[in-house]
Amino acid sequence: MIEHTQRVMSSEYMQWAKTHLQSRFNLASSGLMNYPLSKLPVKINDLELSGPSFYGYEPLQLALAEKCNVAPECVVAATGTSMANHLVMAAIIKPGDEVLIEQPTYELLISAAQYLGAEVKRFERAAEKDFQIDTEKVARMVSPRTRLIVLTNLHNPTSTLTNNETLKEIGEVARGFGARILVDEVYLEALFANAPPSAFHLGEEFITTNSLTKVYGLSGLRCGWILARPELAEKLWHLNDLFGVIPAHSAERLSCIALAHLDQIAGDARGLLETNSELLNSFYETRSDLDWSEMKYGTVSFPRLESGSVDALSSLLIEKYETSVVPGRFFENRQHFRIGIGCETAMLKEGLERLGKALDEIAD
Ligand SMILES: Cc1ncc(COP(=O)(O)O)c(C=O)c1O
Repeated sequence: MIEHTQRVMSSEYMQWAKTHLQSRFNLASSGLMNYPLSKLPVKINDLELSGPSFYGYEPLQLALAEKCNVAPECVVAATGTSMANHLVMAAIIKPGDEVLIEQPTYELLISAAQYLGAEVKRFERAAEKDFQIDTEKVARMVSPRTRLIVLTNLHNPTSTLTNNETLKEIGEVARGFGARILVDEVYLEALFANAPPSAFHLGEEFITTNSLTKVYGLSGLRCGWILARPELAEKLWHLNDLFGVIPAHSAERLSCIALAHLDQIAGDARGLLETNSELLNSFYETRSDLDWSEMKYGTVSFPRLESGSVDALSSLLIEKYETSVVPGRFFENRQHFRIGIGCETAMLKEGLERLGKALDEIAD
């Protein structure tokens, strides 16, 4: 298990991701393949380089508020979920504060909290329990020094859904200690019509982050947001003055256009994920060397290699088979690896065939 006790200034995982996502068969990415600009009905007159964006660009604020069913003053626009998470943590955490983060999780959440001087504690999401959150475990770890509890929903790396009942229980635990809960919901809309409303609606202690990156393949827009009560939202806007100040206005305009056509974009994404999850499930059926759960929703899956080294598998895949998956060491589970299914179906098919060959080879 990686110890996360010292202040960090970089992310080993992000450096790995940025240099390994270029494989010919990229099954390492957790998001949908890029949605092309040519499919958005954009006219040049819809765009402008600069515009009235101070504490938010009003048309974007209104579009996000409508989408999330909240008042516009509860929306803080941010540069992706990445900056949204960073802003929330920076606004809440003082050096020495305790932050409780799920394990496994998206590594940047740990690094960001540590960079801010938090004492990071972890609550386990056990593989034997399908990586579901055990509220009692959370309750046992919270202390009067805990300022923030952090989780992802859907869970990265497993796509496990945390239901509202569990979230409410965690809300009660947090309330008892005056702590808040940050729910990173960047994968939640991969449930499409079945997606529950944001956990923001569950109570005062919930703060949520999201973006158009993962489910809609719109990472390039960097259209992220935070949902927070108005008082905190104002603090977040002011804190953002120390970081990004204002966003790229043309991206704000494009984000408004994307939001106006989100149903169509979501339709394409849902179709792709349905086809690709079937393909992955069929692949799993053929493998007795993997321990896996049927993929029902989400963009990523986290099988366990029964025996052998995942790092050796990953190196072989990259070097001989031009294919990448994310080794489980980045998620503190060395026997697992993460497969992303948001790529083109043909790429997934070929990537899985190559994965099969590499698995056969390490078993010989
Ligand atoms: C849980 C989680 N949050 C946030 C991000 C980054 O999202 P964005 O591209 O919106 O900054 C990722 C990317 O992998 C992620 O897995």
